[in-house]
Amino acid sequence: MNVWESPEFDAHEQVCFFTDRATELRAIVAIHSTALGAAAGGTRFKPYGSDSEALDDALRLSRAMSYKSALAGLPLGGGKAVIIGDPAKLKSRELLHAYGRYIDRIGHTFATGEDVGMSVADMDTIREVTPYVGGTSIGAGDPSIHTATGIVHGLRAVLKHRFDRDDFRGVKLAIQGLGAVGWRVAERLKAAGAELVVADICEEVVQRACRELGAVAVPVDQIHKANVDIYSPCAMGGVITARNAMQIKARAVAGAANNQLADAEAGVALMQLGILFAPDYVINAGGIISGLEAALRMPGRKAVTLKPLAEQLAGIHDRLCEIFARSAEERRPPEAIAEQMARELIGR
Ligand code: NAI
Ligand code: PHE
Repeated sequence: MNVWESPEFDAHEQVCFFTDRATELRAIVAIHSTALGAAAGGTRFKPYGSDSEALDDALRLSRAMSYKSALAGLPLGGGKAVIIGDPAKLKSRELLHAYGRYIDRIGHTFATGEDVGMSVADMDTIREVTPYVGGTSIGAGDPSIHTATGIVHGLRAVLKHRFDRDDFRGVKLAIQGLGAVGWRVAERLKAAGAELVVADICEEVVQRACRELGAVAVPVDQIHKANVDIYSPCAMGGVITARNAMQIKARAVAGAANNQLADAEAGVALMQLGILFAPDYVINAGGIISGLEAALRMPGRKAVTLKPLAEQLAGIHDRLCEIFARSAEERRPPEAIAEQMARELIGR
């Protein structure tokens, strides 16, 4: 495992490796850029297949956070953390404290929050040993509520641009992953008149979606092929490849999962197939927008005045419309336009 030579390295400013033998904590904190402010990004707790997989995930997610905050107009840099292991077996109060002490040691250049495998209660535990954490119950709370709101704003931009319509009545969506964000998105779309096709590795939540939201269930390896208008990945990253893009019947892909495209070729394939892609770090910015407060609490930070939360979340719609319009005009994939815009903002 060589950090400098990882294809995901992209001149990260700092990468920290932490171990605590007593609690078996092994964590990586990746700080991509602090050009626009202190780096902020969630902590993912996951059993990775290998340490280099964990490192690459941290690096990719961290860069995505730089892009996400820059494009959302936030005075923040980008970073991300991963804790390696199965949270169901390894997570303990002691481990979270050990982790929090390491976050505290990094100090004013990084603040964290929830990601997959972490909860508001976990953030409260980490908060006992460091101020550099958001999404706590006395702070912004569960970011997924706001992420879901942002996703729905973004889906409206997709509706307008790809389907030339303003409402979800009768629109068919395939939602992959009914977790904290996916479930909320599903509920709101159902209420707005959409028809849902769903998949999740958790059979219980799928049954609940069928019962309560009238959703149609499909196997997890079939959801991207569903005969729908929009495919919405809301589980893990890397779900779209140049190869499986050809199987997608939807005319647009827009969802919450970070790093949905396995690589740049996957995005080019989507465009060639006429499938509109909403860059994930644009459409899923609601969580970081809501969780900003921890990062702004950093010592030495200038006071900033932000627009009200609802207005910032609604801004996701306009940003996507701008990206889609430029993409059509310049005949380049939306994520290439978004990446260029983000890199200009952070001076890369
Ligand atoms: P979560 O852990 O609550 O939900 C993920 C869901 O996906 C679970 O129900 C899980 O069973 C399911 N799942 C896992 N593997 C699957 C597979 N192969 N096929 C189908 N379903 C599968 O996570 P959350 O918070 O809803 O996040 C979802 C995605 O959105 C993640 O990629 C996360 O990084 C991203 N995201 C989340 C934000 C938030 O505010 N929670 C903010 C921005 C991005
Ligand atoms: N998990 C969020 C993301 O990927 C990061 C985040 C966590 C933001 C907690 C705010 C609070 O965007």
